Amino acid sequence: MFVSENLNVNGKGNLTIGGTDTVELAEKYGTPLYVMDEQLIRKNCRRFNESIHKFYGDKGRVHYAGKAFSCMEMCRIIGSEGLGLDAVSIGELYTAVKSGFDVSKIGFHGNNKTDEELRYAVEIGVGHIIVDNISELHRLEKIASEKGKRPHIMFRIKPGIDAHTHDFVKTGQIDSKFGFALETGEAYEAVKEAITCENVELYGLHCHIGSQIFDIDPFEEAAKVMLEFISKIKNELNYEIQGLNLGGGFGIKYLNEHDPQPFEVFMERVSKIVMSECEKLNISRPFIYIEPGRSIAAPAGITLYTVGARKEIPDIRTYISVDGSMADSPRYILYKSEYEAIVANKADEKRTECVTIAGRCCESGDLIGENMLLQHAEAGDIIAVCATGAYNYSMSSNYNRLQKPAVVFVNNGESRIAVKRETLDDIIRNDI
Ligand code: LLP
Repeated sequence: MFVSENLNVNGKGNLTIGGTDTVELAEKYGTPLYVMDEQLIRKNCRRFNESIHKFYGDKGRVHYAGKAFSCMEMCRIIGSEGLGLDAVSIGELYTAVKSGFDVSKIGFHGNNKTDEELRYAVEIGVGHIIVDNISELHRLEKIASEKGKRPHIMFRIKPGIDAHTHDFVKTGQIDSKFGFALETGEAYEAVKEAITCENVELYGLHCHIGSQIFDIDPFEEAAKVMLEFISKIKNELNYEIQGLNLGGGFGIKYLNEHDPQPFEVFMERVSKIVMSECEKLNISRPFIYIEPGRSIAAPAGITLYTVGARKEIPDIRTYISVDGSMADSPRYILYKSEYEAIVANKADEKRTECVTIAGRCCESGDLIGENMLLQHAEAGDIIAVCATGAYNYSMSSNYNRLQKPAVVFVNNGESRIAVKRETLDDIIRNDI
């Protein structure tokens, strides 16, 4: 009935998430409010974990991409499910460290890491640093030698695959700011240099072709291209690449018409390609990593708002204004991303109106969504926007000096705050 499996309607006609009444959550914690369902996060982690082991055996690990949604509580949950972490800034690393996350299971990313970030990553001993470019390799060599350490690195490679998704979230093609190009020989030259480096160990290769991808073919293609490169390195340079990270990007259901393949199908197909290519190319099977972010976090989350003004413009449209905005829900203004919305306190009623949900920022483009089919909404009603668990809280801002909402986790009918709502003093905390 709803886009995410954890949503339902209770006897009062209210929307529930993971069995918890969303209207009660809005009353208890206020709105706007991010709500994350712990059980669905855990279930998604287990499905990825179980399928990588089922189809590829022991030589596989799932790294959750923290950019999708990160806070200390999320790191604790991910860690307790045995997943590793893809971190992309010193802030994400610090969050993980402070939460007690096993740093040896962190892959550290970034196309322009600062020296401070590299030093921190080397100091804490992250599992791998995913090196994006040659100058980073040189800086890391120097930092590692100063610290007397020999970090394991992977090279981020652009496999030259065009994934069919939004231009802003495509990353695998040659015209991308991320990684070393294969076509130009740039990646090969970098590998040649890295294997002679004294202070870093070239452990693996990494690729990520984009995000919100439904088609499994480009993932298979990318895996083939990467394995061919591994084989070339073995044959020509006599060097064995041990790890291969195939990135994240698995599409999820935001609208009822979306029909992503289950993760299990993805894992089965990609594992088969890796195994058959390794046999064909006569190379040993690498340790495989995947980095799902959205597919673990997005379906587990919703955002709750309270309706304020209602503006009916005859023959044009009806605006329903809510107490949130592009500051907490930035994906519509950025990508025109569509979501399912529900009037949470009327979830058992028919959807009778096609409305535009507007945010409260001083900006016309600040919409939560257009042409959304909703139950009749009046001031004081609660609107739930579904599948917002990824790239909403993590991309939120203080535009218009708005306070960021709280994040609440629900778990089998219980709720708890994981991130407090910002106060007015938080807004001026760094002002002098
Ligand atoms: N690994 C790497 C190296 C990545 O760059 C990303 C996402 C992921 C894994 C996780 O991808 P996922 O499974 O979450 O699709 N802000 C955009 C998405 C940007 C994705 C950036 N990289 C959005 O809201 O759609």
